[in-house]
Amino acid sequence: MNPVARSAVAAPADPVGARPSSRLEIDGRLFNPYSKDFIRSPWDAWDRLVRDYPVCWHKDLQMWVCSSHDACSEMLKDTRFSTNYKNWEHAPAPKPEADKNHFEKAIDAGLFAVEVREHLRLRKLTMPAFSKPVMMKIDAKIRDLIVTCFDEIGSPATFDAFEMIAEKLPVRSIARMVGVPTDMENFFHDFAVNVVTATRINLPLKRREQAIQDTLPGFQYFLDLIRQRRAAPHPGDDFVGSLISASDNGDRLDDYSIVSVIQAVIVAGSDTATDLHTYALQGLLKNPQQFALLKQQPELMENAIIELLRYGAFGKTPQFRFAAQDAEFWGQPIKKGQSILLNLTAAWVDPQKWPNPRQLDITRKMDGNIVFGAGAHFCIGTYLVRVQGGLMIQEFARRFPNAELLNGDGEVDYDYQHHNARRINKLMIKTHL
Ligand code: HEM
Repeated sequence: MNPVARSAVAAPADPVGARPSSRLEIDGRLFNPYSKDFIRSPWDAWDRLVRDYPVCWHKDLQMWVCSSHDACSEMLKDTRFSTNYKNWEHAPAPKPEADKNHFEKAIDAGLFAVEVREHLRLRKLTMPAFSKPVMMKIDAKIRDLIVTCFDEIGSPATFDAFEMIAEKLPVRSIARMVGVPTDMENFFHDFAVNVVTATRINLPLKRREQAIQDTLPGFQYFLDLIRQRRAAPHPGDDFVGSLISASDNGDRLDDYSIVSVIQAVIVAGSDTATDLHTYALQGLLKNPQQFALLKQQPELMENAIIELLRYGAFGKTPQFRFAAQDAEFWGQPIKKGQSILLNLTAAWVDPQKWPNPRQLDITRKMDGNIVFGAGAHFCIGTYLVRVQGGLMIQEFARRFPNAELLNGDGEVDYDYQHHNARRINKLMIKTHL
């Protein structure tokens, strides 16, 4: 047997909880997140990972893979593993400050790139912009957006929920959250698409470089807006105004830190919310009894959204970490500079944590879930997720009370090239209107 084949069938670790003492290895035959089969049906691969290889070295991907619920929960809180790709052994050499453009300066100042102390500082100073009073002001704007979106769908016999809902709502919701005027929404949309494209490390360099160039007018727009607001008698009490006014004993956010927050919510909040919409509708329509229960008990909505995200498990390569030092983790010898695929979606369906993980149960106790991460980088956008997801589901139920997935499965299709998600890009709804 060749060494690659041997590694694919390496002896499994002891049952979950036990910590193996030698390096566990797998290869692409056990887990290939880019294969079509995996994207359509990741369940068997994830089952094996969480059970037998909770933390292992992937010989083909040349990175560690951390998959079980307990291991992922631990890694999320372990500061030896950084979100900053500059800790990666293959990171490109840093550019001199004078050569950096707006995009690069914003990335460098951002939540995922800064070190632990600076990250704490940023989270503290950005807190007021995500506070309930600021967020509640955007509720009405998002409600209006969702009503318009469903008006645009009208009353067809069938429609594609990806095209008509999931592709439209997330970026427009973020535009409303950050306070972009409606006549600038198309400009913001192009900016957001370019920001997301520019951060997709699996795209060809040329395409990313073009996208980076195309983000620059958007950054200039926000930098000008921030300067105007700073010059005004009061910066305003909306999202951008709150970031400008935020102060911790006189310590304040500078312009690039503020645009980096806008960039972070675009990167972290547009793709994820696209998948939220398709997977939530797919989950509810595949489980009509659960949908009926939610209609009867709308107070379950918040729990239902977390459960729908968990159950759909839309991530392909959800998050990454980079070892900032040599570290033994779950008995595995992780070397400084190595990268780790933090396989959160596998953890969301780990049967050791979630009994009957493939069953949708909107009443499930979600204590200890890591759907929005854990620790220092815990998701900053949960309020927007609740509002956007909750209002979309409510409006869908009101307009299409008898809807079903067309031909049983909604003729579901995937974007197999998507950089990190099992992206559904077609989900046909039969409205029965
Ligand atoms: C729709 C479903 C969403 C899911 C499942 C989700 C999940 C997550 C997870 C797991 C993390 C932690 C990442 C890590 O530790 O590496 C995270 C962080 C983050 N999320 Fe979300 N998210 C969602 C939507 C959003 C939205 C709508 C926004 C923006 C409004 C947002 C903004 C952020 C930001 C800025 C961070 C980084 C926080 C930091 O580094 O301190 N997310 N999210």
